[in-house]
Amino acid sequence: MEGGPQFSGIDGFLGTRGSLMLDVVFVAMFLVLVVMGYSIWLVRDRRQFELHKRIQLALGIVLLIALVAFEIDMQLLTEWETRAAASPYFPDDYQAAGAKWASVVGVSLIVHLLFAVPTAFLWVVVIVGALRRFPRPAAPSGYSGRHVFWARLAAAGMVLTSLTGWVFYWLAFVA
Ligand code: HEM
Repeated sequence: MEGGPQFSGIDGFLGTRGSLMLDVVFVAMFLVLVVMGYSIWLVRDRRQFELHKRIQLALGIVLLIALVAFEIDMQLLTEWETRAAASPYFPDDYQAAGAKWASVVGVSLIVHLLFAVPTAFLWVVVIVGALRRFPRPAAPSGYSGRHVFWARLAAAGMVLTSLTGWVFYWLAFVA
């Protein structure tokens, strides 16, 4: 780009205004949903409890690392607001009192966080609960009913976190 970098932080690879971490997370969420779907299919239709356990643990760890890296990037390196400023759904004077959160982009970010934050807690609760209560190797038990209920909620939360995240990304960094 002429005249040096336009934004703070490292530019992404999707050719939008997104930063590197935003683009990584945008793409990674597709993979997370596919792998999670496969893992739920494995446990439901194939009764592969131990494989389901390992995949969900790996997903949990990868998501935790991604979350920490993402937060470091967002809080310290990338000022997402400057990247969103060109969007018709974000005010140019986003620093004016209240302007940011009254915009379509701002509201879409709040909606996204309303799913993302509870989902993160739910994943911790579901994984810790399953590790403590299911037998080893993993198999159905008296804990099954509670796990299936909360785990379905955790899975639905992840789907909605991804969908609302993609909407926010599009509104802020593509439009
Ligand atoms: C956030 C992480 C997890 C999610 C989202 C998740 C998701 C699910 C879902 C949706 C089901 C029910 C499938 C159905 O509809 O019948 C299920 C079943 C099961 N999960 Fe998980 N799971 C997670 C972590 C774990 C872990 C860590 C373990 C083992 C320690 C585990 C062990 C099981 C077992 C044994 C079943 C079968 C329960 C039964 O049908 O009796 N899950 N899981």
